Amino acid sequence: MIDIHNHLLPGIDDGAADVDTSIKLAKIAVTDGITHLVCTPHIHLGRHDNTISTIAAAKQVFEGALREHGVDLQIATAAEVRFDTEWMPDVAAGSVPMLGQWQGKKVLLLEFPHGAIPFAAEQLTAWLIARDIVPMIAHPERNKGLLAKPSKLKPFLEQGCLLQLTAGSVAGRFGKPVRKFAAELLEQGLVTVLASDAHNINHRPPILTEGLAATVEIIGEEAAHKLVQDNPWQIAECHF
Ligand SMILES: [Fe+2]
Repeated sequence: MIDIHNHLLPGIDDGAADVDTSIKLAKIAVTDGITHLVCTPHIHLGRHDNTISTIAAAKQVFEGALREHGVDLQIATAAEVRFDTEWMPDVAAGSVPMLGQWQGKKVLLLEFPHGAIPFAAEQLTAWLIARDIVPMIAHPERNKGLLAKPSKLKPFLEQGCLLQLTAGSVAGRFGKPVRKFAAELLEQGLVTVLASDAHNINHRPPILTEGLAATVEIIGEEAAHKLVQDNPWQIAECHF
């Protein structure tokens, strides 16, 4: 399996605090059957001010440690980019990391504020799409604004935005309403990728199998496996 949303890079956001933790998390991922990771640290202006260079430096540390510890895990990097208009010039200049490619277009992993979808957010997603960048909305099932009013997703879906669910949401780790919303999105065929969004060992580990098993129950074996293998590979293959 390939996990294209997680916070395993050491010391650059609210995920793995140091490289020892990154290695422990990497071992958990490998045990779960994950062979490839696209590490996606937050780019959240004012909170996690990551850039291509901070991400590349953390990747180098992580890669060295993986080799040293003999952990057989292929890694690449992108970012989980928090909704903001201030990074628009950086996107235009090509200095915001992309998650990969989908049907000939670039993919940006986009995170909305957890409490609500910002007013007129679809103008920013339309701006991205006009530049051949498809936003992949990170964990819509956990967004309080969307949970309260799922129809708010409609304009983004009509634009062609992709959806990434957190595997743990389908398994019930974020409560019943989140699980129910995740199941509805799966049943409607609106989900492109399941990812771990792993942050730490105890509460949010890099585990996909639990969510995958729950997803199989909802949409069947073949469709569920596409969400952790074929689709994420299609997006991220360009990195490996
Ligand atoms: Fe995340």
